[in-house]
Amino acid sequence: MPTIAFISPKGGVGKTTAATILATQLARRAPVIMIDADPNQPVDSWAKLGNTPENLSVVTKVTQETILDQIDEAATKAPFVIVDCEGTSSLTVAYAISAADLVIVPTQGSQLDAKEAARALSLVKKQERTTRRTILHAVLLTRTAVAVRSRSLAHVQSELKKHGVRMFESELNEREAFRAMFSFGGALETLDPAAVRNIEKAVANARTFTNEVLRLLREAAESAEAEGRGGQAA
Ligand SMILES: Nc1ncnc2c1ncn2[C@@H]1O[C@H](COP(=O)(O)OP(=O)(O)OP(=O)(O)O)[C@@H](O)[C@H]1O
Ligand SMILES: [Mg+2]
Repeated sequence: MPTIAFISPKGGVGKTTAATILATQLARRAPVIMIDADPNQPVDSWAKLGNTPENLSVVTKVTQETILDQIDEAATKAPFVIVDCEGTSSLTVAYAISAADLVIVPTQGSQLDAKEAARALSLVKKQERTTRRTILHAVLLTRTAVAVRSRSLAHVQSELKKHGVRMFESELNEREAFRAMFSFGGALETLDPAAVRNIEKAVANARTFTNEVLRLLREAAESAEAEGRGGQAA
């Protein structure tokens, strides 16, 4: 069952926001366990606000000693495991990458952010060497403006693509509703439209991203299966 890890050595790029958006959307279909692997416990704080989907539970007290067991155990209990990592490059993060079926690297659109995304990608490469397997990973642009594409963002996007980095086609825009989840708890769908603007646009954005994650996982599973069949035939 897929484990999806959100990583970036840069703080504040939107890991926890993107992880929680994905988890709450997936929880509409199936049970989800979030592993709060950040010592600041942002996911736990969000869950404690209440309105957490019934299908979604949070694992806390995660350390470098415990994380692999916690991920393995969660994977036996729920079809989706989502790991929210802290904004550094610790051993805990390395373990999360090594156990992941998909690593998502959120990044914002400046040159400096692209550099940090490249650092995150080199962490993934290191874990690929350590584990001797390919780890599916992709960069997600976050906090992008809805209307205009800044020149620096376009530049970052083309630089990453030039280096063969897989980018999500969807982005997470800068949206009040995404911030509001962490003030009021719960999912986008349970926010109060009288208190938060443009919830429906945020929901559409979250679902497009979630569908792309599911598509990536499905394609990866299909190609692994085809390779397995090829291996058997040979
Ligand atoms: N798409 C978005 N729209 C609006 N605000 C956002 C969005 N993504 C993140 N933010 C805001 O940016 C700040 C940092 O986001 P978040 O906590 O998700 O980043 P992070 O990468 O998990 O940070 P850390 O490295 O500290 O764990 C928060 O205040 C959050 O509300
Ligand atoms: Mg975070």
